[in-house]
Amino acid sequence: MSLRDLFRRRPPRGAIEETPTEVGKDAFSDVARYYDALMATVPYQRWVDYVERLLERFDARPRDVLDLCCGTGAVGGEMLRRGYKVVGVDLAEGMVRRCAERRPPLPAAVMDACSLGLREASLDLVVSLYDSLNYLTEPEGLASCFQGVAHALRPGGLLIFDLNTTRALRIGLFTQDNLRSGEPLLYRWEAHWDEQRKLCRVEMWFRWRGEGEKAEFSETHYERAYEEDEVREMLEAAGLTTLGVYDAYSFHPPSHLSNRVYYVARKQ
Ligand SMILES: C[S@@+](CC[C@H](N)C(=O)[O-])C[C@H]1O[C@@H](n2cnc3c(N)ncnc32)[C@H](O)[C@@H]1O
Repeated sequence: MSLRDLFRRRPPRGAIEETPTEVGKDAFSDVARYYDALMATVPYQRWVDYVERLLERFDARPRDVLDLCCGTGAVGGEMLRRGYKVVGVDLAEGMVRRCAERRPPLPAAVMDACSLGLREASLDLVVSLYDSLNYLTEPEGLASCFQGVAHALRPGGLLIFDLNTTRALRIGLFTQDNLRSGEPLLYRWEAHWDEQRKLCRVEMWFRWRGEGEKAEFSETHYERAYEEDEVREMLEAAGLTTLGVYDAYSFHPPSHLSNRVYYVARKQ
């Protein structure tokens, strides 16, 4: 499946594969160049192993896969390597550009998860990992994302995604730094929790001291916490049946100590 097959609307320019940068916004803008260095220790392969165990659990054998909010394509790239047909979409132009630099490259385009324009019944699996959907900070946006996903899934197709829990965002897991490390990318993050809006604002500071030009920059990220009931309701409203909700990387139900939760939902 090519990107062009996937889009319901024609992308603004003809050859989006060559220039996948149509509607870039500035989220994840500066950090995009260094994202893979920042994530060097993230066990993406083990995450994809877990996705495959979930697929097995629900007897799914997907072929056409969308990595939703794909970032630089770490998850989609790993799935591509394992033989799936994968494309990615992400809002941040800088992140999407990195997908083309993977070997093999992950076909990807800039697209807002809240207003997906994907071809009807074109996918067997949509996967969205690493708290990407917490970045949809309006419940209407998440609901609309689920509708877009349901539209694009074939009957019986699966949506697998993770979310940071309210606990994780409330207790400030994002407040962290690596200033005493030997890493080329230094960072210091400070999380601020707004209980009323269920919103975590993270002030991020970075300094690159690796090869090439030195750089220092800041970004502000927002993640919203969603309760399980709320998510199940939105999935149901979109025509997606929740098959399972798990404490991350297990088949146990979430507990009050869970920091990350996985959802598996099936297009009815
Ligand atoms: C924490 S990163 C995770 C990226 C990737 N899934 C991974 O596992 O490395 C979150 C990603 O969500 C993307 N994102 C945030 N809001 C989005 C939106 N409304 N539509 C599409 N992508 C979005 C960001 O640009 C970023 O690449």
